[in-house]
Amino acid sequence: MHDVLIGRGLIDEAGVKLAEVIEPCRTVVVSDENVAPLYKDRVVDSLRESGFSPSIVELPAGESTKCGTQYIALLEAFAKAGLTRSDLVVALGGGVIGDLGGFAAATFLRGVAVAQIPTTLLAAVDSSVGGKTAIDLAAGKNLVGAFHLPIRVLCDPATLSTLPPEQLAVGMAESIKYGILFDAPLFELLAHGAPPDLTETITRCVAHKQAVVERDFTDRGDRQLLNLGHTFGHAIEACSGYTILHGEAVAIGMRMAARAAVLLGVAEEDCTDAVTAALEAADLPITTPYTAAALTAAALHDKKRAGGTLNLILPVRIGQCVRYPLPVEQLGALMEDVCAWIV
Ligand SMILES: NC(=O)c1ccc[n+]([C@@H]2O[C@H](COP(=O)([O-])OP(=O)(O)OC[C@H]3O[C@@H](n4cnc5c(N)ncnc54)[C@H](O)[C@@H]3O)[C@@H](O)[C@H]2O)c1
Ligand SMILES: [Zn+2]
Repeated sequence: MHDVLIGRGLIDEAGVKLAEVIEPCRTVVVSDENVAPLYKDRVVDSLRESGFSPSIVELPAGESTKCGTQYIALLEAFAKAGLTRSDLVVALGGGVIGDLGGFAAATFLRGVAVAQIPTTLLAAVDSSVGGKTAIDLAAGKNLVGAFHLPIRVLCDPATLSTLPPEQLAVGMAESIKYGILFDAPLFELLAHGAPPDLTETITRCVAHKQAVVERDFTDRGDRQLLNLGHTFGHAIEACSGYTILHGEAVAIGMRMAARAAVLLGVAEEDCTDAVTAALEAADLPITTPYTAAALTAAALHDKKRAGGTLNLILPVRIGQCVRYPLPVEQLGALMEDVCAWIV
């Protein structure tokens, strides 16, 4: 499994830390228009001091950058920079830059090394770990991608201090998710809002994600646990026309999953109050305006449907979840009951 270094001030040591895992080489640092002005100079200076030859590509911020046009433009930029098979791509930014930069690295010359420097909490605890890279199509998100493990992930929690509050909140949603899935003490740590120093949070979340990915690299078994809150969440995202942030939808979805677990008799302990309180403390939304019928229709379009069953991930208690194969014809009634409660 690839290594992840987590520590305050790490981005100023990017050169030294990457020179430990790759010969200093030509390096393209990919970033976006929000992150580059804040952090690119520190990364580029550090790389240069360690003997790398860095150049920077700055892309527009936002999900729309994860598209075919920007992907090709990025490959052209790699070519123009003279990148070879033994060179390096550094993705400096959130999940958008990590996914796009990682996918471009995975495919340029059939694969050049990539290092991830996540600068959002979501990227730190989720997208930078595990080697999934992708871009979007008009037909849907993440439809083209590759598994491409980074040679190293450098996560500097100090960079999260400049995050807009709603971006911190969506990272909290994914962090709380690991608490509900695997780690009651982590859940407690996050129950009263984001800790001022996120180092421990990230360290624990990354350990959980790595453990799951290691057990199930290609996403056929245990990795599905990471979809806690995502079946309901994706339905909410779809109903909103993708105007709600993914992590916000997942927050509501985790609350719905907790309720569904109680209704289906899966939960040994009613953890709905604890989940609700933690989400509220993180300034995340907890209710959805969409009807059960609309959410059911959206959920049945979701790619996670396997045959006649929908694999729901449901909490047994805080710190333990299970896969629950729900016959699709039962989803409508369950959704009615969950929605009647969630208002
Ligand atoms: N590969 C995976 O396993 C995986 C997992 C989860 C999500 N994702 C993908 O991740 C993407 C979402 O990532 P995200 O939430 O990080 O979004 P993002 O990359 O769009 O970043 C969110 C916003 O914060 C800004 N920003 C980033 N770091 C900052 C900082 N330190 N200070 C100030 N502003 C900063 C960005 O410019 C952007 O405007 C989605 O495309 C999703 O599909 C991938
Ligand atoms: Zn998610």
